[in-house]
Amino acid sequence: MSRIKRVLIVVVSIVTVVAIALGGLLLWLWSGSQVSTVGKESFDNELAIPPLARSSIDKDGTRVFDLRMQAGEKQFKKGQRTSTWGFNGDYLGPTLRAERGEKVRVRIRNGLREASTVHWHGMHLPAKMDGGPHQTVAAGADWSPQWTVDQPAATLWYHPHPHGATEEHVRRGLAGMFILDDDRSARSALPKRYGVDDLPVIVQDVKFDGADFDHGHRMMQNVGFLGDRTMVNGTLSPHREVADGLIRLRLLNASMARTYFFGFSDDRPFALVGTDGGLLERPASLRRIQLSPGERAEVVVRMRPGERTVLRSFSQDNYSDSWQQRFGGGDDSFDVLQLRAADRLRPSSEVPVRLGELEVPDGKDAVRARHFELRRSGINGRSMAMDRVDEVVTRGTTETWTVRNANGMPHNFHVHDVQFRVLEVNGQAPPPELRGPKDTVFLPNDTTMKLAMRFDGPSDPDTPYMYHCHLLHHEDEGMMGQFVVVEKGQRAGSPADGSGTPPAEHHHAS
Ligand code: C2O
Ligand code: CU
Ligand code: CU
Repeated sequence: MSRIKRVLIVVVSIVTVVAIALGGLLLWLWSGSQVSTVGKESFDNELAIPPLARSSIDKDGTRVFDLRMQAGEKQFKKGQRTSTWGFNGDYLGPTLRAERGEKVRVRIRNGLREASTVHWHGMHLPAKMDGGPHQTVAAGADWSPQWTVDQPAATLWYHPHPHGATEEHVRRGLAGMFILDDDRSARSALPKRYGVDDLPVIVQDVKFDGADFDHGHRMMQNVGFLGDRTMVNGTLSPHREVADGLIRLRLLNASMARTYFFGFSDDRPFALVGTDGGLLERPASLRRIQLSPGERAEVVVRMRPGERTVLRSFSQDNYSDSWQQRFGGGDDSFDVLQLRAADRLRPSSEVPVRLGELEVPDGKDAVRARHFELRRSGINGRSMAMDRVDEVVTRGTTETWTVRNANGMPHNFHVHDVQFRVLEVNGQAPPPELRGPKDTVFLPNDTTMKLAMRFDGPSDPDTPYMYHCHLLHHEDEGMMGQFVVVEKGQRAGSPADGSGTPPAEHHHAS
């Protein structure tokens, strides 16, 4: 054999070995990236129900809550202590509850060793009270936002929003529900005994490395943190005994990046009665509902005496290509919560045929159309900057916002301060689950949505509200923009760049 031939053989063999190794690695990543807990959960643990937050009424009639952000430890698994963060406890926070028309104040104490914020997701309130990245609460400091509740009954939530560190603060455990009531919801025949036939269902995916949370982002995973199992209200493998014919579940996707496709293991239909910002006009009978991070849905499910059924998240096929599908979590499935009906059930009244009056605008009086192109690198080609106002809207006007995702990966879109109506999805009328008041919508690849929203103020040219992708890693990376509400003819002011406040300490776990 000539020397050249021998060299050639060596080169070819090396190339072949490398190709096989790479192929093997890819195959290994591919098959290891799909997770399913379907049929594997024991449902041994009784579902925890977050306590209703205590409140007091001060002299001027304001309802006052106290929330303390603190570090702690929780036993998710017997005998294993996991370090966590929580509000007033070790993990998650109490459920705040207030009525339309009430003045509320929340006294927040940041008991953490780093700065954070508390944002009221879905709440219509002044920009200074919003708890976004401009309302930083330093370690050890207090913050007491107050506002008047001026929107319909709804399932809202609260969570930190420090710029660049939101994913980390939420996944450590800082999140809670904020339920609003109004006359209509109080009178309605929907199940409404909290923790009895009206259950908060805060769904998060999680991964453990021994006793500790494993927060690493896996290779190829461009959506952010994805766990390999789910928990509800901080309970792993949960079940709940119920004793009523109809059970209302207030579903909240409080996960970092994971989108769920909820339904029941036996495919029973359920009534969708509410979306992010409140009740639908009339219930919709569905078998599946897709919820991306930040979205909520209120569903009512009928139980028969003695039976069991499982709230499941099914695999999805609308992310874009099979690559995204696999590495973005679309192929995954989870057994989320088992409902166990007692042998005798209290009878429930039927789900009412009419539920609420939509207060979201229909867009006919829109004075301005804006367009938002979603890219992981930024919205409309710009990455978030604290001192740049991206959009200026006039108080008291309606606008349409058209949001497009052609970025080849799933995103979603959340707007602070408002609830909006989805007018169109890819030029078509929206499906039932997008016909209620919304503040967050899922946009798989190749999706365009036209939204109508009204900005009722108050105006504040210097303090922006946010709009962003609620896949928290994308948000942290800068997939966020700022808008201010101004009086007609007024110009935007100049928001602080955030450097006046101590920067959030930022450890990147990856
Ligand atoms: Cu739930 Cu801007 O956040
Ligand atoms: Cu929000
Ligand atoms: Cu995104």
